[in-house]
Amino acid sequence: MTKTIALISGKGGVGKTTTAANLGAALSLLGKEVVVVDGNLTTPNLSIHLGIPLYPVTLHDVLRGKAGVHEAVYRHRTGLKVVPADLSVNATRGIKPEKLKDLVSSFFGTSDFVLIDGAAGLGKEALAAAEAADRAIVVTNPEITAVTDALKTIRTVEDSTEIMGLVVNRVGKHSHELKAEEIEEMTEYPVLSKVPEDPTVPKSISLKVPVVHFSPKSKAAREFRNLAERLTGLRKRRGFFSRIFGWLR
Ligand SMILES: Nc1ncnc2c1ncn2[C@@H]1O[C@H](COP(=O)(O)OP(=O)(O)OP(=O)(O)O)[C@@H](O)[C@H]1O
Ligand SMILES: [Mg+2]
Repeated sequence: MTKTIALISGKGGVGKTTTAANLGAALSLLGKEVVVVDGNLTTPNLSIHLGIPLYPVTLHDVLRGKAGVHEAVYRHRTGLKVVPADLSVNATRGIKPEKLKDLVSSFFGTSDFVLIDGAAGLGKEALAAAEAADRAIVVTNPEITAVTDALKTIRTVEDSTEIMGLVVNRVGKHSHELKAEEIEEMTEYPVLSKVPEDPTVPKSISLKVPVVHFSPKSKAAREFRNLAERLTGLRKRRGFFSRIFGWLR
């Protein structure tokens, strides 16, 4: 069964695209067939993270009905399949983000995972990314502002999309961070992964290679691989976590 997961957040810049690219690459390294869709229609940057900025057909063309979905799928050198979005300024004119759900369904049966890199906030396209997936992972930083915004997003989408939990990214950057337990208490969802602040992440982005390939032994890469292993059932978590990850198996 194809598993569809949206990476969403309240605050922008917290690490959704980094998580989508690296979780996708880590799942791909485990032999899974993975498609990552750039659901951030207004300010897309998945293709920039992966170094494929020029392509003739985009997600926008598919949403406009000008191309078939399989014309907009590109195989990245890591093995990951990517559906990039149009980077031009007026690309979103006439686009209906709610059509994302149909696009995602066209990968049913041929992919193990479809990850959707969502837009931040509570706008139409952010909500469309969550609604296009069966489950969502909320990405946040361990700061009160980011977690407050994450909570708003959670409360907005939780009735229509099942929230698996949170990836807390850039842990250890500041001395006054919220602890995982505090974030769980605030949001009432489990912290699935704590990705540390790691200088290899921005370096890997500048070199356009996911950190799980660029620096496999880095702390961030290990954490993304751990999350991928949990999603595929290779790494078991007991009790509550086994219930969350159970649907994936
Ligand atoms: N674990 C990390 N350690 C250090 N820097 C990081 C880490 N994760 C992300 N970053 C930095 O944060 C920046 C923003 O990350 P990213 O683009 O993934 O956020 P985003 O949530 O997708 O942003 P947007 O809301 O604009 O789509 C990256 O360009 C990178 O420099
Ligand atoms: Mg992004």
